[in-house]
Amino acid sequence: MQKAKRLEGLTSAVFADMEQKKDLVAARGVGIINLGIGSPDMAPALHVIERLQKEIADQGNYGYAITGLPELLEAIAHWYANRFGVELDPQTEVVDLIGSQEGLAHISLAVINPGDVVLVPDPGYPIYSAGPLFAGAKLYYLPLLESNNYLPDLDAIPAEIRRKAKMIVLNYPNNPLTATADLDFFQRLVEFAHENQILICHDAAYSELAFDGYTPPSILQVPGAREVAVEFHSCSKTFSMAGCRVGFMSGHADVVSWLKTVKSYTDYGIFKPIQYAAIAALTGPQTYVQETARRYQRRRDVLIDGLRSIGWQIEKPKATMFVWAPVPAGYSSQEFAIELLEKTGVVVLPGIGFGPAGEGYVRIGLVQPEDALQEAVDRLAKSGIFVRPATA
Ligand SMILES: Cc1ncc(COP(=O)(O)O)c(C=O)c1O
Repeated sequence: MQKAKRLEGLTSAVFADMEQKKDLVAARGVGIINLGIGSPDMAPALHVIERLQKEIADQGNYGYAITGLPELLEAIAHWYANRFGVELDPQTEVVDLIGSQEGLAHISLAVINPGDVVLVPDPGYPIYSAGPLFAGAKLYYLPLLESNNYLPDLDAIPAEIRRKAKMIVLNYPNNPLTATADLDFFQRLVEFAHENQILICHDAAYSELAFDGYTPPSILQVPGAREVAVEFHSCSKTFSMAGCRVGFMSGHADVVSWLKTVKSYTDYGIFKPIQYAAIAALTGPQTYVQETARRYQRRRDVLIDGLRSIGWQIEKPKATMFVWAPVPAGYSSQEFAIELLEKTGVVVLPGIGFGPAGEGYVRIGLVQPEDALQEAVDRLAKSGIFVRPATA
């Protein structure tokens, strides 16, 4: 048997290698502090769990869901209106997803023909490249550099690439960079998309995990955005429902209908009790969301204040559940992540795994309670690893 060629362009090897090394270190009896994963460790709000329990007990909820329940699509539109002041038609401008990952994977099948160019961020969350590759796209990487506040330089994209490009995938607040984008940037991006007839796929999975009073915008707030853009959201991080697999995409009505067509062949919808739980999350009190963001903010402070106190100078992110930390002098991102794991049992992800422009950084997840993050700092302090930055 031979595997398909489309699997050859995938770059998951770095993360698979870390996973393997983690298991070897754990087998030596070292207690692992896993800050590598992007899965929330918190439980959903009680009213969400209770709704799930109630609906699971209903014998009528075990058939195929096929498409999103009208009540879920309405709840999504209601949430968008409350949160962003954006009015969506639940029937034509919203589609439910089995987690935003599913939509990010399938969107290319709905809009990309083999050979089309897709503009993807470097570094970037892996499905942004993998989805287009599965559809036979050619990728054009947009380096996201600190010197440009981790935003793509749209003017630097050659005219020929703009002509051939069919889609651009971006994500703010950003995983792994933690960078944010303001409405001015989204406005410029929407103009760029109109000028070049390119579909914007904006992934806003972390829009609700923001700190210090910052409120991330939606690209759909820009006038004219829904003619060129769709936006992905996830209940995974906002409501700590990662294992439930529920998210959604909204915006351009044709693109919504094309994705619904792909989905009508590839899945039969989300388990109904989970849809009801998502409705409870979206329409219920949002205090849970605010409290969750505050918890991540406290974790951010414990980790970064601790790391700064031992000499590792790291910027505090305004959003997401990650810290993007410059690798100390003398290491590649992979070498540093491996040394850290070997000497302390702390797992972080090498930036290179997210693309070549991620070299020089590691991603640290705020996915453990404050005491575990403090323990990670203490182990690093005792490890003998010298964490002064290259420029110190
Ligand atoms: C940026 C980003 N987008 C999408 C996803 C996928 O989330 P979901 O659980 O909704 O599939 C993740 C998960 O870590 C993510 O980090």
